[in-house]
Parts: sequence; structure tokens; C-alpha cells
Amino acid sequence: MKITTLANYHQSYKESIDQPEVFWARVAESFSWKRKWDKVLDWNFSEPKVKWFEGGKLNITENCLDRHIETLGDTPAIIWEPNDPEEHHRVLTYKDLLFKVKQFANVLKNNGVKKGDRVCIYMGMIPELPIAVLACARMGAIHSVIFGGFSAQSIADRLQDARAEFIITCDGAYRGAKDIPLKAVIDDALIACAFVKRVIVCTRTRVPVSMIKGRDVWWEDEVKKVETQGNPDCPAEVMDAEDMLFILYTSGSTGKPKGVVHTTGGYMVWTAYTFQNVFQYQPGQIHFCTADIGWITGHSYIVYGPLLSGATSLMFEGVPTWPDAGRFWEIVDKYKVNILYTAPTAIRSLMGFGLEYVKDKDLSSLQVLGTVGEPINAEAWQWYYKNIGKENCPIVDTWWQTETGGVLISNLAKITPQKPTFATLPLPGVNPCLVDENGKEIEGNGVSGNLCIKTPWPGILRTTYGDHERCRLNYFATYPGLYFTGDGCLRDEHGNYRITGRVDDVLNVSGHRIGTAEVENAINMHAGVVESAVVGYPHDVKGQGIYAYVITEGHHSNENQTRQDIIQTVARIIGAIAKPDKIQFVKGLPKTRSGKIMRRILRKIAEGETSNLGDTSTLLDPGVVDEIKAGAL
Ligand code: WTA
Repeated sequence: MKITTLANYHQSYKESIDQPEVFWARVAESFSWKRKWDKVLDWNFSEPKVKWFEGGKLNITENCLDRHIETLGDTPAIIWEPNDPEEHHRVLTYKDLLFKVKQFANVLKNNGVKKGDRVCIYMGMIPELPIAVLACARMGAIHSVIFGGFSAQSIADRLQDARAEFIITCDGAYRGAKDIPLKAVIDDALIACAFVKRVIVCTRTRVPVSMIKGRDVWWEDEVKKVETQGNPDCPAEVMDAEDMLFILYTSGSTGKPKGVVHTTGGYMVWTAYTFQNVFQYQPGQIHFCTADIGWITGHSYIVYGPLLSGATSLMFEGVPTWPDAGRFWEIVDKYKVNILYTAPTAIRSLMGFGLEYVKDKDLSSLQVLGTVGEPINAEAWQWYYKNIGKENCPIVDTWWQTETGGVLISNLAKITPQKPTFATLPLPGVNPCLVDENGKEIEGNGVSGNLCIKTPWPGILRTTYGDHERCRLNYFATYPGLYFTGDGCLRDEHGNYRITGRVDDVLNVSGHRIGTAEVENAINMHAGVVESAVVGYPHDVKGQGIYAYVITEGHHSNENQTRQDIIQTVARIIGAIAKPDKIQFVKGLPKTRSGKIMRRILRKIAEGETSNLGDTSTLLDPGVVDEIKAGAL
């Protein structure tokens, strides 16, 4: 399963495209199945239908945990670094983790969770979060993790969409200097979700919380009950390869986030295969992925990929800049981290603090560096390469999406060549192409277009929860017969891919995907707002910032106050991650005669371009453009 040389990469790639079923059957055989599959792959992109390893039966947690116990039982599975460096860290060996996962799976059963039920997990980055995730998978429930930065309203939307009747949360979470009152947010969300039957609350910050009788229970009490029941075992539920493993909500170009669905067998094969090959993981290495488990990167490369591979996964509760901007480097030094996987936004932010925070840290344990989430600019790449990797560590620039389950395009550490700012070559099984506006494939090298994928790989999304048609429309209808990524892309003269950013109405702010329509909806909720239009603009640290053009009713006496109110509204409706960076009050928006907002113009103005705005003659009222230009921030 491991690619070991450049020639081996080319050979694997060719075989994976020529004979995908032979190739992936061989990879899948290295896992533990309760029943072998009948058919490796069945698909068409028109419905879409994608089935991998159909008829196969397995439980992913047996592959993550049980099968490693004999050889790796006492090896750390998870090392946890707390927010506060003064607090003691925790180590869970594979044995410990399996014990706790079984125990908590029994807690879930005691609380009425059944196979196929959706369980929402809204927790901070403590070991109980992956325990909860794996306990769901153990007993066949579908986990839906929601990032701790989302608001009550966002949680309520997701709970309703997934019809999740069970919630696992914490009293609160520590993130840098802040305490986040998670349970209080859940309480607000549940005002609109009376169908929720049970909330299990894990203790972390000891902030006072209100517990609702009959609905809310403490994690610790429930674990005690399981202990007194005396049976620590919990057999792994037998799952079909195509049974749902999890739902993860992500933003698209429409106002409502969609629940991306991943299933058991293909996701397992894909996360393990990509983890081992992209990072060239070697047994015994310590892998530190700095993402939050609330995002796909955390699902695939803190939890599933590393554990499926028997690796030691380091998880960090806090933020890179607290107590100071040396925190990542201190963690690398403290645990002798070998693989560091982070986001360009974090690199740019730390770069801004200077080398003072790097210079006295021993980073010599590092062997491989990685980035994900957004295009990395050349300056950040060089800084990372020189000052963190000391010019000794390859940087894998991994391009992928929530929908792809794991990495699709990346160099393989020390195996395939790196090229700064390029994700480089597709992984085996990945069949990319570039198309023009009309969906016509652009062949050859040295060309740009919209990035699509022609054939399914094991980790591709299967549907969007509760609405298959939406999945079709979003990903498979723009260019019939292809999976459309939403990204623009350049292919250089050697066939290396460079992802240039979204071509749809999705922003990428600090590596977080946010739909412009979602932010507009939130702004429009504010009383007094008549209409708004949101676009992205280049931001030194965040990659993209959020620029909002807002029309308000009548005259407001205090513009700054109104701005603050709008920002608060967005934080309340979506969460702090979607707060606009700039709000410009305007009298009108540039619209075509058919009423469509011309975002191209707004984008240019937000980028600081005022002269070359392109054709404005089709506008209903070309005069608004001058007014907007004059007031640009
Ligand atoms: C962007 C994160 C350039 C891209 C795993 C994609 C990237 C979106 C890269 C998915 C990269 C991710 N280079 N752009 N290496 N990685 N992106 O769903 O626009 O949160 O479509 O998944 O991030 O974001 P998501």
C-alpha cells in the first residue's frame, strides 16, 4: 500500500487509473473485514451513485483500534496537549483508547442511541471528543461534529437538517485566553429543537451550567453507571461498507450549509492510504495536525487516518498564539513531533510575529511539513521551509475538500518533487481534468480552467444528507459526467496542479469555507438592513477577508454602532468565524436589468481596483458604481 519511490508512484498511478478495481481491492485487503465485498466499485456520476466495496462488512473502529492492540497496545494513540501549558498533558495508549471507546459506546446505548441515529458532537478539543466520535462509529451511530465556533442558530439548523436527537457537548471549552460556554450555546440552540432527547455533558471548564431534568446528563455519571454494570466490552457493530459513517456540514454557494455524507469502507481506505502516502508515515512517528476535529481535516488526519495506521496523533486544545506565538514550536520541541500539518493562515500569522518565537526551540525532530485549506503564497512557503523545516523537510501542499474525504492532489513527502505554491500531482485513483465555462475539457499543459474529477475515488462524498438531488445539483450537474470541485486551477508545463481558489460564491477565510449567501442572509436579519452583497478580498493573514456592501433603511446617526450591531448579528446567526472585516454602507448595488447583482464589480472594488471595472453598460443604474467607488474602504 505504501509508495516508496518515484517510479513506484507513476506505476501505482497508472494502474489505479487503468484498473481501479484491481488496485483498490489490493489496498482494501490490508484492512480487517468481517465479510469481504462482492463488488469493488459501482458508479455513475449522473444520479450520482458511488458504491465502493459493496457487500463488504466491517467496523472502522476495529480497524482503528482492536487490530493494533496486540502489537501497539501500549503505544500512545493520542497525546493531548492542553490549552494551558501549565496543565498536565494526557496520553492515551491504543489499549486505553479502545477501553474508553467501548465504555462510551455503552453509555450511548444506555441513553437510547441506536444504530443509524444521528449524534451531534459539539465539544472542545479534548480527548473525549475523538472518544465520542469513535464510540458512535463503534455502535453504528452517525456522528455529526459541529465546530465549537458555530452559533446556536447554526447548530439548530444542523440538528434539524440531520434530525439529530442526541447531543454530546462540554460545559465549556478553553481556547487561548477565552472560555467558550458550549453548553449555554447548546441550550439556546435547543429552544428550537424540542425533538432532542438527550444531551450528554462532559466536564471541562466547570463553568456553571443549567441541566434540564430528563434531558441532560453528565458524561462522568453515565460512565460510572457503565462501570457499575460491570461489562467493559462493547462488540463492534457490523456495518455495511456503504453505511453512513458521518455527516459534516459545509458551506456552498447557496445560503444553507449542506450535510456532506461519508460512508464506512471507502472513507476508511482513503484516509489511511492518503495518510501513509502523502506524509510517508513511518511507524513510531508523532503526527501533529493542528486542525480542529470540527473540520474535515481533523476527522481525517487527527482521528481516522492516523489511528487506522497505528500512528501517534497529537491533538492540541489551544491556539497557536497563546500564551505566545511560540506555542506550536514549543509543542514540536516538547513531544519531538515528526510530522507537522497546519494551515497557511497559521503560518502567515506566526510569520508576522518574527523569528524570536522560533529561535530557541529545538525543531530537529521534524521530518515532514504539510499545509492544507487554502492556497499557500510563496512567501509563507519559504518561511515555513527555511525557518521551521530548516530546509530539510519537504512540504506537502495537500489539496482536498470536505467532500473528497482525504487528500486528492499533493506531492508525496520525499517521493515526488515539491514545487512551492503547487499541490503538484494527483494521488493514485484521482483523475483530474480542467474544463472551460462550457464544460469542454482543456487538454495539454500550461493551461488554466475549472478543476473537475472524472472518476470516483474511495473517499468521495456519497450524498448530502436528506437531499440527494442537492448533491447532484451542487457537484455533478454543472459539468455533466464530472465531479466539479468549485476551484479554479492551473496546470503547468509539467502537469503540476496549482489551485488558485474558489470560482463559485464561496469564501475561504483563514481556511474556513463560508458562503457569501450565508453571510448576506445573516446580515439581512439585522433590523434596518434592506439588502447586502458580500464578496472576498485579499487579506494578508486570513487569505481572504469578508467585505460587505450594505444598504440600510433611512439614515443612521451612528455608522460605527450600526456596523458593530451588524457584526454581532452575523456572529449570532452563523458564528464568530463569519464576521465581516469591512462593511461599506451604500445607497444601491450594481444590478443588471434582470436584478442580478454584479459581484465581479464589487469584488474588484473590494480588491482596491477602481479603474478597470469591465463592462458596466448592462447595469440598471451605472451611477451606483461611482458612488460605491467613492466610498470604498
Ligand atoms: C481550498 C479542507 C489551495 C479549496 C480540506 C477547496 C486549497 C477548499 C488547498 C476546501 C490547497 C484546500 N491549496 N486551496 N492545498 N486545500 N483548499 O472543505 O478552495 O474546508 O475547495 O476542506 O479549500 O475546504 P474544506
